[in-house]
Amino acid sequence: MRTPSLISISGACIFLFLSLLLRVEAASSSDNKQWIQYTNADGETLYLDNNREPALYAQDYGDCQGDSIVNVTRFDAAYYKDNMTILFHLEGSTAVANESVMMYIGVYAYGESRFTLMFDPCFANIHSMCPINASVPIEASGIIPIAPADVAGIPEIALSIPDFEGQAILRIFANSTQSQIACYSAVLTNGHSFSHPIAVGSTVGVFVAIALVSSVATAIYGQGLQETRKHYAHSLSVFVVFSVLQHVFFTGALSMNFPSVLVAFWSNFGWASGMIYSRGMQNSINQFIGSNRGNISMVGSAPSGQNAVNLGGGYSPSMIYKRAIGLLDTIESESPSMHKRSLINSTSGFSWYGNPVAPGLPLPGNYSSFAGTLAELHIPASNAFLTGLLWFLILIALLGVSVAVAKVVVELLVKLKAIKTDRLSFFRKHWIYCGAVIVLRACYIAFFMITFLAIFQFTIGGAAGTLAVAGIVLALALLGIVGLAGYALWYRMSGQKFQNDPDQLQLKLSTAGKVPRLGWTRKSTAAKMEDSRRTVVSLPWRHLHLVDPMDRPHVHDDDDYLIKFGWLSARFRRSKWWFFAAWLVYELVRACFYGGAAGHPLTQVFGLLAWEILALFTIVTMRPFESNRLNMLMVYCLGFSKVVSVALCSAFDPRFGLGRILTTVIGIIIIVIQGVLIILMMIAVVVGAISSYMSVRRYQEDFHPQSLANTRTKFFTHLEHKATDKPLAKAVTNAKGAVLEEPKQPYFSITSVRRETKIEDEDLENENENENENDFIENDSRLSMDANQQPRDKRASAAPSVRSRTSISNLPYGARRHRASWSTRDFHNSGFDPEQIPSGMHSRMSIESIRDGSAPKSTAGVRQTWTANPSLVNIANAAVNGSSPYRDRHQKSKSLNLT
Ligand SMILES: *[C@@H]1O[C@H](CO)[C@@H](O)[C@H](O)[C@H]1NC(C)=O
Ligand SMILES: *[C@@H]1O[C@H](CO)[C@@H](O)[C@H](O)[C@H]1NC(C)=O
Ligand SMILES: *[C@@H]1O[C@H](CO)[C@@H](O)[C@H](O)[C@H]1NC(C)=O
Ligand SMILES: *[C@@H]1O[C@H](CO)[C@@H](O)[C@H](O)[C@H]1NC(C)=O
Ligand SMILES: *[C@@H]1O[C@H](CO)[C@@H](O)[C@H](O)[C@H]1NC(C)=O
Ligand SMILES: *[C@@H]1O[C@H](CO)[C@@H](O)[C@H](O)[C@H]1NC(C)=O
Ligand SMILES: *[C@@H]1O[C@H](CO)[C@@H](O)[C@H](O)[C@H]1NC(C)=O
Ligand SMILES: *[C@@H]1O[C@H](CO)[C@@H](O)[C@H](O)[C@H]1NC(C)=O
Repeated sequence: MRTPSLISISGACIFLFLSLLLRVEAASSSDNKQWIQYTNADGETLYLDNNREPALYAQDYGDCQGDSIVNVTRFDAAYYKDNMTILFHLEGSTAVANESVMMYIGVYAYGESRFTLMFDPCFANIHSMCPINASVPIEASGIIPIAPADVAGIPEIALSIPDFEGQAILRIFANSTQSQIACYSAVLTNGHSFSHPIAVGSTVGVFVAIALVSSVATAIYGQGLQETRKHYAHSLSVFVVFSVLQHVFFTGALSMNFPSVLVAFWSNFGWASGMIYSRGMQNSINQFIGSNRGNISMVGSAPSGQNAVNLGGGYSPSMIYKRAIGLLDTIESESPSMHKRSLINSTSGFSWYGNPVAPGLPLPGNYSSFAGTLAELHIPASNAFLTGLLWFLILIALLGVSVAVAKVVVELLVKLKAIKTDRLSFFRKHWIYCGAVIVLRACYIAFFMITFLAIFQFTIGGAAGTLAVAGIVLALALLGIVGLAGYALWYRMSGQKFQNDPDQLQLKLSTAGKVPRLGWTRKSTAAKMEDSRRTVVSLPWRHLHLVDPMDRPHVHDDDDYLIKFGWLSARFRRSKWWFFAAWLVYELVRACFYGGAAGHPLTQVFGLLAWEILALFTIVTMRPFESNRLNMLMVYCLGFSKVVSVALCSAFDPRFGLGRILTTVIGIIIIVIQGVLIILMMIAVVVGAISSYMSVRRYQEDFHPQSLANTRTKFFTHLEHKATDKPLAKAVTNAKGAVLEEPKQPYFSITSVRRETKIEDEDLENENENENENDFIENDSRLSMDANQQPRDKRASAAPSVRSRTSISNLPYGARRHRASWSTRDFHNSGFDPEQIPSGMHSRMSIESIRDGSAPKSTAGVRQTWTANPSLVNIANAAVNGSSPYRDRHQKSKSLNLT
């Protein structure tokens, strides 16, 4: 198998994506085609399918005058360019007994009136409207031949541009009062759209599924928590994937007057934010919320069924009746050619028409605010919160079921001896715990969505029941998720103290790269990192930092913490492990701006812009993830896209009065930016799947495809290095694609040692060790397993790749036996008195990895961890001892339960 190059992957992704977006839907072919004959202006005779797709046609329509006297049950209009015809159908009823009317049909596109037709139904063979009569149902249809001059306002591009932004507006005026008695507006389309929720949604869904599987696989596979964490941190985060997808969709939650292209584009990603239309679910929600649907005018939408004053540029009846005489002349002269056409529906062939919009939706053709974005998915804004909540609960249930299914599959595979038992033993023993962690993680990911939707519900108002549910869910999210994250911080930070040390801020000049670079560093950091750059300027500084008087291991080295809160902290760098809490605060503020300020568009959009810019700069300086790919995607790409999207969207505020064509152009720029972001995410998912595959095959000597074996070696070296959270050493950067050479000089790689204790320090505690021999015999057997691994040593001498793999596990084979025998002997010869340990406490000893066999014993740093919570350590120990993932030769730390 050849190495899949990044370019070909990205090329394929881009092609797939664009072809999906621009897919032109072929007209449904019908068996019984009716051909009509038409002779055009040039005298050519054309044979046209009677049921072909019109160049422009009306889709769903809504009432734009709250108290329309005429009830329209069918309204469609179509413009056929090939035979220069406009067709329209109208069906309805009225309660008025005797009223002569005038009709107006207008096409309003991209903010301008493009075509108007005004006529007296009596001259157009529409007898059911001449006059309108309560006992006669209205049935009007017409075939209107037009001249090129009539449609000069509709440029050619309008017929091919995706998501043509136009409305067909029907107005009926009463002669007696000279006022409008009915208004209906239908959205116009040319059949091309960026909205392909099923095609795009399922494609992106496949990528999300790949990301989910590869992330979960790295999380549950492995022989030690800390090693598993390292590999998990480099798989692609589902959290990042959803952050990207939700960012794209929820940009549509700004209370702006969006162009149709954007809303159509966003509709492809609604599913990732819980906005999935299902008729059954919507009906149930409608029943629950009753008639109180809140007020979407609050957020700048144009609700259907209310008077839309300025629709289509507005129209004053007095103008009609003044201008009528001149206009009627032209219509009258044309009226003989206005034929009647039978009202046909999709069963009888004509399929290019829409239906009245459901209650609660905005007027079709108006894409303002979140209500407009949701309308593209046929979900009323009033139902958004409950829809999102229900789908989220369904997702939780699905996740629970999948974990159970995974458990069954794993057990089956173990029975069939298809997989090694010990590497999935943690999952097999604690699958319920794993399921709970996955559900908690889902809650963490959904935090923004749920809080935003709940706050948005409060903004638009609605039925008391809905508001109560929103309140409860909001409180649960705040108390539950924020509370948990706060507890995770407190659990580690409590007892830590702030210390304010004098320090120096140094401006350093780096000449290592091609371009010399300047950068600020603290002197203490520079000393820690062995920064050899030249100092240019030095300023006095104070360094405020936390000190842990209890000297606990770092959260990434602490099995207890990994078990409890690893689902929050595991992906972040050592120095930024607390980033999950910062992110929650960031998301909460965003949700408040999006939801709470929705009624004040300018506050919302500029407040958000300021917050996103602040967040971008803060997060870029942090680069919180351990994995470079995640930093790239989440910090740089997502951050950039968020800032630019909000900044560009701010131009859509109706107050700025931007032209609709310019609005559409800006919309396409946003689509390009967000589309590129999605494509990058897809590429990251593919690369992440490959790296996760490497992670999962880390215990195997041979790796297929062979061509990636070197990459795997480099990846593992990189991974080990990233886990230390130190800048890249020169030796690593200098290796030009070749396999990294083992350093000539022996050196030690000790990941995070808080306090290095001398062996002598431990003597006191080790004195009475023999009393507790049972524990140590078990331990002994485990430790000595290392020495007995004959096959390993054989392979070590045979396969060159072992060298690299050794550096991966941080355990050089040369050192193993030496260390094992040393530890065993040491433990046996020294005494250890469990009585000296306060009751209820556990001691866990971790033997740090030694890089080279010649290491002095004292640097082995026998480390002791005290923890006041026995139960969780028991879980950890049970996990470790039961089926013992630690029993493997790759062990790094050992836990002893001493009580
Ligand atoms: C143009 O095509 C439409 C749809 O096929 C048809 O209904 C209409 O009669 C045609 N117009 C003329 C003038 O033939
Ligand atoms: C329009 O139709 C709906 C139901 O189809 C009915 O409830 C309403 O009263 C009608 N309005 C008028 C003005 O006829
Ligand atoms: C309305 O229609 C009924 C039945 O066709 C007819 O008897 C009545 O005269 C009509 N009313 C008007 C005002 O045309
Ligand atoms: C309907 O109204 C018109 C004028 O308002 C009147 O001339 C006509 O006689 C009326 N028709 C009926 C059947 O009442
Ligand atoms: C309604 O008013 C228009 C304009 O004033 C007039 O041309 C038309 O004949 C009137 N319709 C009827 C049925 O009287
Ligand atoms: C809805 O909100 C708009 C704008 O805030 C306000 O003018 C209108 O009166 C409200 N409608 C209802 C029914 O409360
Ligand atoms: C949609 O409706 C809002 C509120 O009535 C209005 O400000 C906006 O201009 C409308 N948008 C379009 C595209 O007509
Ligand atoms: C479609 O039209 C046919 C005949 O015109 C009619 O029998 C049928 O009920 C109509 N169907 C719908 C859904 O309106």
